[in-house]
Amino acid sequence: MTGSQGSATHPGATTRGTALVTGASAGIGRALAREFAANGWDLVVVARREERLQALADDLGESYGSDVDVVPMDLAEHDAARDLYEEVTDRGITVEALVNNVGAGVHGPFHETDLERQLDQVQLNVRLPVHLTRLYLPGMVDRDAGIVLNVSSMAAFQPGPYLAGYYASKAYLLHFSEAIAEELRDTNVSVTALCPGPIDTEFQERAGQEAPAGGSYSNTSEGVAEAGYRGAMAGETVVIPSRRMKLTYLLSRLAPRSLARRAARRVNADR
Ligand SMILES: NC(=O)c1ccc[n+]([C@@H]2O[C@H](COP(=O)([O-])OP(=O)(O)OC[C@H]3O[C@@H](n4cnc5c(N)ncnc54)[C@H](OP(=O)(O)O)[C@@H]3O)[C@@H](O)[C@H]2O)c1
Repeated sequence: MTGSQGSATHPGATTRGTALVTGASAGIGRALAREFAANGWDLVVVARREERLQALADDLGESYGSDVDVVPMDLAEHDAARDLYEEVTDRGITVEALVNNVGAGVHGPFHETDLERQLDQVQLNVRLPVHLTRLYLPGMVDRDAGIVLNVSSMAAFQPGPYLAGYYASKAYLLHFSEAIAEELRDTNVSVTALCPGPIDTEFQERAGQEAPAGGSYSNTSEGVAEAGYRGAMAGETVVIPSRRMKLTYLLSRLAPRSLARRAARRVNADR
């Protein structure tokens, strides 16, 4: 499903801008950073593992001539958004594209899961993107140019037993993105929610999950990043980067909610 958002013109289409990517040291975030760099953008890359970010920065500089600022930071900290915004502003950088990619999952029966990990999940998946978007959007609206790309998930479309907080957080991010996109419909600022299915990254191990049954991942990080970048540049509101996942989405719309959540329970219980 994609929703066009009017005729946004974006800095990346003609001139370089700077894209800030959270969670850029691995997986989808690293692929998104590479995709922006390959399309002529400068970058600010953020995660905890500084050496990984530095290696990425060196690589993107050599391969694409991008200026890449590395900001090592634990984004699970309560004031991370404000600290990050101030650090980037102090470096004299204007962010033309905000990529809220970082996210985490906590697998297991909710009442048995670790509370601190549940709260970190809310911070990374919800509080941080809300705070960063609120900090960066006013400048974009003033300039009448800008892109917000929020990495949601197919998990956004139904409740997810055994990953309850994760699915709910992704639903929040999807609805949040769609609503703001609609508010900004008549501007050149776009908000895009990217909704991948399962991708082979470090995510599963961090969440305490097994790989999907039969190892059937829906796409690659690179494929997701390419679709997300293209969708954001086109001002699409929701991007589902796989034909199989688009079909899954359509079927889930037809199914009663009780059936959808039971199906999700079965999928997540096996993992
Ligand atoms: N993989 C999937 O199946 C899938 C499917 C749909 C949507 N998604 C979404 O895609 C996004 C990226 O997921 P992924 O699969 O690429 O995950 P990943 O491979 O686990 O990568 C997560 C990234 O976030 C960073 N990160 C994690 N905790 C952090 C913290 N506290 N502070 C700063 N950085 C932190 C990690 O770097 P450091 O460890 O260096 O900090 C890493 O760069 C997430 O929002 C996820 O929900 C994933």
